[in-house]
Amino acid sequence: MSEAKRLAGEKAIDYVEDGMIVGVGTGSTVAYFIDALARIQHRIKGAVSSSEQSTQRLRAHGIEVLDLNATGPLSLYVDGADECDPHKRLIKGGGAALTREKIIAEASAKFVCIVDPAKRVDVLGKFPLPVEVIPMARSLIAREILAMTRAQPVWRQDASGNGVVTDNGNALLDIHGLAITDPVALESAINQIPGVVSVGLFARRPADVVIVGGEPPIVL
Ligand code: A5P
Repeated sequence: MSEAKRLAGEKAIDYVEDGMIVGVGTGSTVAYFIDALARIQHRIKGAVSSSEQSTQRLRAHGIEVLDLNATGPLSLYVDGADECDPHKRLIKGGGAALTREKIIAEASAKFVCIVDPAKRVDVLGKFPLPVEVIPMARSLIAREILAMTRAQPVWRQDASGNGVVTDNGNALLDIHGLAITDPVALESAINQIPGVVSVGLFARRPADVVIVGGEPPIVL
């Protein structure tokens, strides 16, 4: 799939205009976008980054990383996804960066999502839905999600069995076994639970454009 990811990431450069500050997501597909952005970095003013991982890659290329509070609204955000439905609604957060990704998507006029063909689904939910939570509320939120959905929230842990900690210092739950028929309603319902920082459903603010990597890439 890495060839499809590369083709999607490089196609997204078509949306970059001179003088832009570009919102940059997180993940292996975005890494190809960052590498392509580096080749035209003389044309842009800088980037706003959604994770420490992307910040490192941007800076390694010499691209200036700016604070969203200082830039104001952005014209363009480019990011990957874990699943994408026919309405361009997404599941994101497999890379643990969902909260900052959601913030930058909200701040951006155009959200271009770059995916490989395996990410396309008819109904969201086969990929476990990530939820970033305040650590002390983790068990409470897991119980409430189980009662609400009958699907199974699982605390995300690393290979050594330690809880994954997000860039914001929080924990993650991944909800297994969902078939999300009403993504806007589920996004709102999960957001209402005290202690939820954000849920990796991008339904209220879906992507504007989806680029599916291939030869040639498909633009939806
Ligand atoms: C990061 O938290 C995610 O939202 C990524 O955008 C998503 O997991 C896609 O990652 P890949 O591009 O690595 O498949």
